[in-house]
Amino acid sequence: MSNPAGAKPRILTGDTPTGRLHLGHWVGSLENRVALQDQYECFFIIANAHAFTTRAEKPDEIRQSVLEIATDYLAAGIDPEKSTIFIQSEIPAIAELTFFFSMLVPYNRLMRNPTLKDEIRDKALGDGYSFGFLLYPVGQIADILAFRPKLVPVGEDQLAHLELTREVARRFDQLYCGVNPQTPDGEYVAAGGLFPIIEAKLGRVKRLVGTGGPGPSGQLLKMSKSLNNAIYLSDDPDTINKKVMNMYTDPNRKKATDPGTVENNPLWIFHETFNTDRQWVEEAEEKYRLGQIGDVPCKRRLVEVLVALIEPIRKRRLELEKDPGHVLKVLQTGTTRARAVAHETLQLAKKCLKQDYL
Ligand code: TRP
Repeated sequence: MSNPAGAKPRILTGDTPTGRLHLGHWVGSLENRVALQDQYECFFIIANAHAFTTRAEKPDEIRQSVLEIATDYLAAGIDPEKSTIFIQSEIPAIAELTFFFSMLVPYNRLMRNPTLKDEIRDKALGDGYSFGFLLYPVGQIADILAFRPKLVPVGEDQLAHLELTREVARRFDQLYCGVNPQTPDGEYVAAGGLFPIIEAKLGRVKRLVGTGGPGPSGQLLKMSKSLNNAIYLSDDPDTINKKVMNMYTDPNRKKATDPGTVENNPLWIFHETFNTDRQWVEEAEEKYRLGQIGDVPCKRRLVEVLVALIEPIRKRRLELEKDPGHVLKVLQTGTTRARAVAHETLQLAKKCLKQDYL
């Protein structure tokens, strides 16, 4: 359980349950997780307690989202025989570690956290956000360090939280495990530290745009449920077709013979991201620039590409939906396994903190 030398290195990552998973999740992190399952011992957290930071008045919705995300994970190819999927609020050691870690995070450092600032702006939280909202990055540090992972695959928006995680791990190891502050990040555990200084792993696309046009700032908006511009891993071919056919492209192009702009055009961002036929994409982009191909055939092609990616996931999802007991069983097995690992970390942390009395 203590991840001895020679064992696979660990991954910890996860999602806040705010709805079904979409293509932004897929390229941001999910695709990496599926691919890394064999090389790493993977733990995937469904951060349900964090969902309360902005939706405390909607417990039913959060409950539903937890099950949706677990179903999406399995449908997308996370294999519960290889990887551990678990529910955050069922792991008491995470809450306990949050308390100790909160003493190692300067308050002003938290208030300068750009991810929090962006969230306050994007979700229009004003100054009415809760104390728990400020606490959640510290909770996320505990989510991660409870598993002492090597790697944390996330989207770009999470990097500020990972930097904070690295700072807390260094601080803890220096203060309570006697690690010399000159120690290089990769050697903290070898130098006697309890917590490794984790590494972030970004997806191949840092921030996928949505199917809609630009926001008030003139920039294309990121794919997100709340902006109603997402293509879901559970969308059927008809829905994908509609979303792609209505997708924002080059607003100045009225007909197929007008020269088109490829840059900052969601149609081409999606082709570049998902279409593996590079030659077709390059040739079609050239024709698009010259006004030799219309939007419609390029959109049709994109529909085919996306349906080929999503349809097997959607079909597995339909099977899983017929058997909700199976999803619950996966969560139960995973949560039991995760609880043991996190509990062991807590015991070790208490020893370092000299608070192991009984
Ligand atoms: N905050 C992350 C998000 O909203 C979800 C999350 C919670 C997470 N705990 C984590 C991600 C630990 C990585 C590691 O996407």
